[in-house]
Amino acid sequence: MRVLITGAAGFIGSHLLDRCLEDGHTVTVIDDLSSGDRSRVPDTIALHVTDVADTAAVTEIITDTRPEVIYHLAAQISVRHSVADPYHDARANVLGTLNVVSAATTVGARVILASTGGAMYGDGVQMPTPESVLPQTQAPYGISKYCAEQYLTLHNRLYGGRHIALRLGNVYGPRQDPHGEAGVVAIFCGRIARGEAPTIFGDGKQTRDYVYISDIIDAFIGAADYSGTEAVFNIGSGKGTSVLELLEAVNAAAGASINPQFAPPRDGEWRHGALNSSLATTEMGWRATLSVVDGISRTYGSLSS
Ligand SMILES: NC(=O)c1ccc[n+]([C@@H]2O[C@H](COP(=O)([O-])OP(=O)(O)OC[C@H]3O[C@@H](n4cnc5c(N)ncnc54)[C@H](O)[C@@H]3O)[C@@H](O)[C@H]2O)c1
Repeated sequence: MRVLITGAAGFIGSHLLDRCLEDGHTVTVIDDLSSGDRSRVPDTIALHVTDVADTAAVTEIITDTRPEVIYHLAAQISVRHSVADPYHDARANVLGTLNVVSAATTVGARVILASTGGAMYGDGVQMPTPESVLPQTQAPYGISKYCAEQYLTLHNRLYGGRHIALRLGNVYGPRQDPHGEAGVVAIFCGRIARGEAPTIFGDGKQTRDYVYISDIIDAFIGAADYSGTEAVFNIGSGKGTSVLELLEAVNAAAGASINPQFAPPRDGEWRHGALNSSLATTEMGWRATLSVVDGISRTYGSLSS
């Protein structure tokens, strides 16, 4: 199959690229290398160092390569950066997605979007949160991802597309970026390995739904094969893990017992997060398979250097 991956030099995209190559697909990559690592894309793969917000360039690449599936992961990923510069966030995440889905429609490609579950729903909602809860995001990043989803589902309604948005929990695993939604895992692993006290913003009782990278890649591959009519899926474990519990898991993986230092909570943060992914289980047969303790023990070695 002809596959295009945007953001394939990044954390999740590079794991997805590896999997697509293992599965024998012909892959093209768009990545502006703003945070991605060039060495994660093999030299044999066509890499377009392009901003997804560049309408003409994205249209030309998609028209020329005619992918059947587009995994769209290139994005501004930082909640805090979205608060500081919502214009850049909207340009990359809204305009970037509009470019990808518009060109996809012209060549009949299916888009699988990396959306967010963690930053989507806001506080004071049902836990674990199902997709039916109306998003009340706490940060511009959640708005830009929600808006991106809306373009996908609009194209489904207007043009008969079969695009899918995956609302990912906080993804962690080897190669992860400390600035992303689950960046705390990489930061904690590094600090504990150096024998330094990690900083916890707030009281550490805030929870997030952490999902191991291999489970996330299974969800992307499953979404591309999905033949049903749903378009938006939560992809999470269903369990909220507090920052204190996460630190305990990192300490256990390291054989350490380092206490944190505390700092005031940060802007754009929400209190609790856990995703109800029963729709993904019923429709696509997907479920998270790895607990945080097992996932962290697999991850620690690669993130602690
Ligand atoms: N990591 C998580 O916990 C998490 C959770 C929910 C959703 N997501 C989404 O998953 C996707 C991948 O996230 P990640 O953690 O792998 O991030 P990452 O920063 O490691 O990867 C993003 C990649 O996109 C590229 N990129 C950024 N802006 C671009 C632009 N304007 N044009 C072209 N390329 C651009 C970067 O160079 C990088 O290679 C993102 O869409 C993110 O919003 C991630």
